[in-house]
Amino acid sequence: MCGIVGYVGHREAYSIIIKGLKRLEYRGYDSAGIALLNGNLNVYKKKGKVSDLEEFLGEDKHFLNSTIGMGHTRWATHGEPNDVNAHPHYSSNKDLAIIHNGIIENYSSLKMDLTLRGHVFLSDTDSEVFIHLIDDIRINNNCSLEEAVRVALSQVVGAYAIVIIAKDTPNQLIAARKGSPLVIGLGKNEFFIASDASPIIEYTNEVVYLNDQEVAIIKDNLLTIKNIEDVQMTPYIQKLELELEAIEKGGYEHFMLKEIMEQPKSILDCMRGRVDSVRGHLVLGGLNEYLYKLINAERIMIVACGTSWHAGLVAEYIFEEFTRIPVEVDYASEFRYRNPVVREGDVLIAISQSGETADTLAAIELAKSKGAVIIGVCNVVGSSIARASHAGAYLHAGPEIGVASTKAFTAQVTVLTMIALQVAHKKGSISDHLFRILLAEIESIPDKVSTVLKLNEKIKYISSIYKDAKNVLYLGRGYNFPVALEGALKLKEISYIHAEGYPAAEMKHGPIALIDKEMPVVVIATKDSSYEKVVSNIQEVRARKGQVIAIVTEGDTQVAKMADYTLEVPATHEALMPIVAVVPLQLLSYHISVMRGCNVDQPRNLAKSVTVE
Ligand code: AGP
Ligand code: GLU
Repeated sequence: MCGIVGYVGHREAYSIIIKGLKRLEYRGYDSAGIALLNGNLNVYKKKGKVSDLEEFLGEDKHFLNSTIGMGHTRWATHGEPNDVNAHPHYSSNKDLAIIHNGIIENYSSLKMDLTLRGHVFLSDTDSEVFIHLIDDIRINNNCSLEEAVRVALSQVVGAYAIVIIAKDTPNQLIAARKGSPLVIGLGKNEFFIASDASPIIEYTNEVVYLNDQEVAIIKDNLLTIKNIEDVQMTPYIQKLELELEAIEKGGYEHFMLKEIMEQPKSILDCMRGRVDSVRGHLVLGGLNEYLYKLINAERIMIVACGTSWHAGLVAEYIFEEFTRIPVEVDYASEFRYRNPVVREGDVLIAISQSGETADTLAAIELAKSKGAVIIGVCNVVGSSIARASHAGAYLHAGPEIGVASTKAFTAQVTVLTMIALQVAHKKGSISDHLFRILLAEIESIPDKVSTVLKLNEKIKYISSIYKDAKNVLYLGRGYNFPVALEGALKLKEISYIHAEGYPAAEMKHGPIALIDKEMPVVVIATKDSSYEKVVSNIQEVRARKGQVIAIVTEGDTQVAKMADYTLEVPATHEALMPIVAVVPLQLLSYHISVMRGCNVDQPRNLAKSVTVE
């Protein structure tokens, strides 16, 4: 995915666009570029971060008098990250420019046709083909740019969010989307376009989320939206609830640390207005009309990617434990290609922080086409996955900017637990008494996470011991097995240390061969139904001189005698322990990454949401 920002209005476009790109840089950051129109259509682009582009442009800002422009931060799919492949891309005679988020899957056949028609391409990207196609249609059909864009959209296969500027129309931006997000901000005599709301919120809270295969034409201070058949649509104007401070670092060195530290609040926000243990109430308004589908489901499928898939694994244990409905969890990328058996009435839960992950979106469309009911669990309001779902529940965890997902995971497990309890209580598979106990326990989690966060300095010290490890194993059983996977993913994605998560019992089937004094082993050994077994696994590791960092329940003295380091977390119901036990692992990976000088918020090769497959 990438970051897109467009502006047209009465202010200096350059500073609005650059500032907006920095807010979106978490979405993709291998190169950046900007196009400004002030008589000439000028494109400036550079490999590297937005700050490298600023440095490249230097102090001389003669072009600052432009009030219309667009910018792009790239996450390359076609063509290596370099100056030439950076966006924006010109048409042949440089009177059009495009920025693009997504993939044009049939770009090579289009490129071949266009080359035969005399078009010369400067880059290796699919995006450059897009603008040449539009230009070719416009010239050969002698039609308007708007019409040429619509015809081109019917010819391209793939996902796109695009913004186009034309030299001969100095007060017009044209935008379109299919499968990649675009938000239009409505200011006073000015318009903003962006991949998400973060570049817009400081200027206006009135937005329009463009729908798939819609074209937005902003011209002469007017916004017109048409569908691909040239039918005018009525823009649905929404008020953003996002606050500016939610997308700032708030004094923390990194967004990731801020998001780890704000988990007591984000978990509370998940429950706000939904949970009342005193009255035994649990309200999930977004599920209402489809709750009966969940209650009567013969099977629940869960699809997700990465950290969200780990939350799905926790949900599998929770749903089966409390609702007694069979659950299967798939990587969305596997589900969409393995020809799954999906029956009418099956329920598919799609979990996605960004709500834009291409594989998860594709899995939804496949399941929907086979008659499944789709329940979306997303954090970004109005995201593609949220809008593709029949029903769902937002996380309300606030924007998650750090590429490594932290507060989204704890929010996902919280929301999925609430959904499972709602279904179990309605179908009577748990008693009202247990329902109330679990609701009260959920309400206690924010305070328990606050307690865990007080371990930060101790975790920082442990991180200093293990920051140069070459490999790390993470072990857990039952509800804590997905936590082991999540801890390993956190470490590897931001510190580049190889780490693997395993079910603790699985050690004997191979991984134990890896254990020696060089191998740190992180074990989640909290008091639960498999505690004694995990203690045995720790002894197996110790017998082979492995180093053990154990996450234990407060007051545990047994494991403390065996482990090199123990981190005590408050006791809670084992089904809720993933929310508490993951926090030390988040902090461990964060501090190790910082100590290794890695880019914590924007790790190499990664992007915040993978909107391409
Ligand atoms: C998690 O730390 C990673 N950034 C990544 O695995 C992420 O969870 C995955 O790409 C899914 O993203 P989503 O939740 O936005 O769909
Ligand atoms: N596919 C385009 C490219 O590789 C756009 C990638 C993106 O979304 O940043 O340049």
